[in-house]
Amino acid sequence: MRWTRAAGRGLLAAAVVLAGYAGLGSPAAGPVAHAGGRGPVTLVTAGDLTDYLDPVLEDWNRAHPGEEATLVELPDSADETRAQMVTGLRSGSSRFDVLNIDVAWTSEFAAAGWIAPVDPGRFPLDAFLPPVVDTATFGGRLYAVPYVTNAGLLYYRSDVLAKEGERPPRTWAELERLASEVAPRHGLDGYAGQFLPYEGLTANATEAVRSAGGSLLGDEGATVTADSGATVEGLAFLADGVREGWIPKESLTWKEEESRQAFQNGRLLFLRNWPYVYALAGGEGSKVAGRFGAVPLPGPDGPGVSVLGGSNLAVSSLSRHPETAADLIAYLTGEQVQRRVLTEGALPPVRASLYSDPELVRAFPHLPALRKSVLAAEPRPKSPRYDQVSLVVQAVVHDAMAGRQTPRQAVARLARELRSLARAGAGPSRED
Ligand code: GLC
Repeated sequence: MRWTRAAGRGLLAAAVVLAGYAGLGSPAAGPVAHAGGRGPVTLVTAGDLTDYLDPVLEDWNRAHPGEEATLVELPDSADETRAQMVTGLRSGSSRFDVLNIDVAWTSEFAAAGWIAPVDPGRFPLDAFLPPVVDTATFGGRLYAVPYVTNAGLLYYRSDVLAKEGERPPRTWAELERLASEVAPRHGLDGYAGQFLPYEGLTANATEAVRSAGGSLLGDEGATVTADSGATVEGLAFLADGVREGWIPKESLTWKEEESRQAFQNGRLLFLRNWPYVYALAGGEGSKVAGRFGAVPLPGPDGPGVSVLGGSNLAVSSLSRHPETAADLIAYLTGEQVQRRVLTEGALPPVRASLYSDPELVRAFPHLPALRKSVLAAEPRPKSPRYDQVSLVVQAVVHDAMAGRQTPRQAVARLARELRSLARAGAGPSRED
């Protein structure tokens, strides 16, 4: 299933709603490599939201004969994409040149030596939104260049809330009340996010924990900070929802797309998801077009914390054409393509100036609010063992949400398992 072509206009609107706050690396038999690391390259990426990339790469290819870029699309799910990239990199294959990696993976890929450090002088880092640049660094070095950003939002059915004389929730208590009392009166389920055990659940759980004032790891993965009342409160928010019925059990199997479908088919009062949903839920085929809005995520006593999502572009350490790869990254993160990321891809760009570009703001009036929301979003924990950290978080949180452990038991287990990972070596390490 694909997150298909999205109308850029929707994104803008999306922001709407932030109302108020917010080639193959030529194998031996392949094409002859140009001197100096130049030649055809591949751009490998998750297979979602990529339709706009074909014409973008065609433009590059026309201007760069002999250095053509080929798109390699992997599965939509963050975890499956990562697994396929890692399998290729571990096998020593030079099939991938430019990797479009989730912001959450920079530390792990850098520590494992799968991606090569990037020369910061080659990219105008000052032109990017600052928190986004931070996701591309590890151990004080730049390993990637920001490409697309993301921040979690709360989508709500504006028609239902208006009928009830209610405003979108700003606290968990308001969300819980509306989800448990109002939703059933309208034949709706209350609230859902991405609760299948995969990276999406880690993002949702991190948001809940951070919103409650807690955290999971510190010091680039070296210290475990998960054992706290705030972590229990964060997990309890999610677990109580399922137990009390205002989070539908079925959502324990949903990723981004399943949850978006449920919302735009008119089944949910509230949905936590990324800004891409705005365009799609407002477009053709959506039953809720014109009848929903989005606001910053709520937290225990006021606005909550959203996780910084998105992806960075990195050069594979195994690339035979790293010079071309770096040039392709400069092209994709340049002002012109970044504009297309927004207008044709409906994705939040990383170039700060676009958020205040008069023409874009006219077309997408709430772009500045979206910027605010990205600037306020917090990164996931940095760790060279991020994949392991995420697997632990997913398993534990899913058990708590499924009622197999209480939030308190789940947090004790989470802290124990994260500590054993930290002991096993959380410091920067190379994998050969
Ligand atoms: C989105 C975000 C990414 C996150 C993923 C989780 O793709 O951009 O950062 O890890 O969702 O499913």
